[in-house]
Amino acid sequence: MEREGSIMKVLLAAGARPNFMKIAPLLHEAKHYISKADFKLVHTGQHYDYEMSKAFFDDFDISEPDYFLNVGSGSHAVQTAGVIVEFEKVCLKEKPDIVLVVGDVNSTLACSITAKKLNVKVAHIEAGLRSGDMSMPEEINRIVTDSISDYLFVTERSGVGNLRSEGKREDRIFFVGNIMIDALYYGLEKLKACAVTGEGHRWQAGKGAPRVVVTLHRPSNVDDEAKLRDILSGLRDIAKETEMYFPMHPRTRKKIEMFGLDYLIKDSGIIILQPLSYLEFLSLWKDAALVITDSGGIQEETTALGIPCFTVRDNTERPITIEEGTNILVGTTGEKMLDAFMSFKKGGRKSSKVPELWDGKTAGRIIGKLLAL
Ligand code: UD1
Repeated sequence: MEREGSIMKVLLAAGARPNFMKIAPLLHEAKHYISKADFKLVHTGQHYDYEMSKAFFDDFDISEPDYFLNVGSGSHAVQTAGVIVEFEKVCLKEKPDIVLVVGDVNSTLACSITAKKLNVKVAHIEAGLRSGDMSMPEEINRIVTDSISDYLFVTERSGVGNLRSEGKREDRIFFVGNIMIDALYYGLEKLKACAVTGEGHRWQAGKGAPRVVVTLHRPSNVDDEAKLRDILSGLRDIAKETEMYFPMHPRTRKKIEMFGLDYLIKDSGIIILQPLSYLEFLSLWKDAALVITDSGGIQEETTALGIPCFTVRDNTERPITIEEGTNILVGTTGEKMLDAFMSFKKGGRKSSKVPELWDGKTAGRIIGKLLAL
């Protein structure tokens, strides 16, 4: 297809697992605007294992990134600096009009700083979320990214309030809804299609004991030996009453090995899995009785599908999932987790609704807005 002379050049930056489901809907939507905007994808390589990265490209039918920076793991300084150095080269070559960053990972921060210092406009998707917990690396990434972004795309109204109270210009804040829900609907349709063609996924609905799905990777939960031991003990107790699946993040696996905590999992009945692709994971949790997690995104996804969610944290930057959704903060001790599970078992299920503009059309709103700007 022929492109017109002056088209907007957009660099879309992503690096870690929770980024890919946020960029996929944009890349799908961008196909409708090929004469107006040229989107190029830069993968920083923050996550590099197949299950943490490439599997998501396959699930969402998006092609290979235009640039792969291969930055990999390291301390926060090493990783962030590595992305800055490599992303600058791409920006200098491509001369984009705008850089789009998503979420709150180190790559988000690094790419926004790089672009801004080259006087390139920055748009942050998922702006304005605040946990108030500065011990979380993600909170620092969010605050710094928002402080230098030109356009702030917000998923829930609390984010608009946060940005206003930080003095952001009203005409820079856009409440557009949650782009991850676009990806979720895409995933559900794909699972349906797989079921029709008989491809299927590993987990079918409604067999055996109530299914509980667990994910755990927050440094504050898994990097401390006593905390991790306590949480695993809580899970072990809950697993006595349910069928528990636990796709394990590489960070968590490493820490369990390092602290010698395998004994808490052995003979517990907990089914430990490799990190799963998006569709495999969706096929597992969409029929769960309960999800137990410390992830940010899963709090939102479970709310969108009305699946009860326990968040193993003391705070959340996504308060709408508590106020309107299925999410409950259960704290970070085994005892509190078990208490919450017992009252859940007795019928303590929240009523919930799907938050405003979590309708699967967010990518269209974002690109429409960008072109209008
Ligand atoms: C990162 C994000 C976090 C996000 C999470 C989801 C930051 C600060 N954190 O945390 O917000 O929720 O991703 O996964 O950006 N590793 C592998 N294979 C990989 C990637 C990582 O083995 O493909 C290992 C690394 O060697 C490291 C550990 O996993 O030991 C953690 O990886 P890292 O990217 O530093 O942070 P995450 O904990 O994944």
